[in-house]
Amino acid sequence: MSSSIKPLRIAGIGYCVPSTVITNDDLTKLYDTSDEWIYTRTGIKERRVVSGNETAIDLGLDAAKKALKKSGFKPEDIDCVISASSAPPQLYPTMACTIQDKLGIPGNIPAFDITAACTGLIYALQIARGFIGIGIYKTILILAADNNSKITDWNDRGTSILFGDGAGAMVVTEALDGVDDILALNMSANGTIGQLIFTDMPGQNCPLVTPNNYVGDGKIHMNGKEVYKFAVTTVPKYVEECIASAGMKAEDVDYLIPHQANQRIIEAIQSRLKYSDEKVISNIKYYGNTSAASIPIALGEGVEQGKIRLGSTAVLCGFGAGMTWGAAVVRLREGIC
Ligand code: UT7
Repeated sequence: MSSSIKPLRIAGIGYCVPSTVITNDDLTKLYDTSDEWIYTRTGIKERRVVSGNETAIDLGLDAAKKALKKSGFKPEDIDCVISASSAPPQLYPTMACTIQDKLGIPGNIPAFDITAACTGLIYALQIARGFIGIGIYKTILILAADNNSKITDWNDRGTSILFGDGAGAMVVTEALDGVDDILALNMSANGTIGQLIFTDMPGQNCPLVTPNNYVGDGKIHMNGKEVYKFAVTTVPKYVEECIASAGMKAEDVDYLIPHQANQRIIEAIQSRLKYSDEKVISNIKYYGNTSAASIPIALGEGVEQGKIRLGSTAVLCGFGAGMTWGAAVVRLREGIC
């Protein structure tokens, strides 16, 4: 970005996961599978899901409150809300508008959702960076909150082993000290291979029209093997190139905080960057794939558990339905979570 573009500061990060745990052993009650099969293939032991009347809105609200608190900003300071939700509990009002209302953010600012599936956080960060960069908005709340368990086909052992619910939030603002926390950010998509993961909207045809067309079931459908191949061939190289576009070498970056989709995919990126285990943040074992929320959950929890030292740098990366993918090299300042 040119020097006339305003720099961005990551001011606060928060996350929230529901308390209900579903273990691999629990899943054996639904279909023929085993803890050993799931853990070996994915690195997942358990995932969290919403229960009762709880939805991703509750998770997103909690994550947003934590991010705001860490940032030192108040709801009235937020001048734009962007939510990266690909499995929101309702299509509209959007997650962003709902959280705007529930947090008491003024009703005269823009709030909207974007759908970039598991790459949503990276996409939202880039949109926020553009807005802040050209000075339209100063302080933006980014959300990533999904109800994956509501669109999971719990009869499909190829997908329902993977996903969990969770939320993350980030407050980003103009960096008044001139230090940009985004050292590089790249994002991509290829709709030609979009059918590798799809969720059709459920619904009905107009009863006056014949013949009736195909109506989706609203559930996640995935060609797991091809998604896996796509991820391991595309993402590690892309992450390395993103680091290079920041003018850095892999060893200059302190941490890899990847989207948590499969432990073997995380290891493929780790191996490309030649990182030791201490530099790679993985919590997929306990949460599965929480889509766009997985990066802020891994980051926030990593700091709490002492795995991530703030005042450092990290490369984030996401990939998922679309197909979409993206990476960002970011500065993690003291006190952000
Ligand atoms: O955010 C991005 C989202 N998605 C991903 O990153 C997913 C990437 N893909 C994957 O992680 C893997 O493809 C899976 C973990 C989903 C599946 O692993 P796989 O090694 O690709 O298995 P597969 O689908 O090729 O199935 C191999 C065998 C099949 O049996 P047959 O046909 O060889 O007899 C499946 O029916 O394993 C069977 N199988 C299972 N067995 C026990 C599939 N799922 C299960 C299961 N438990 N849960």
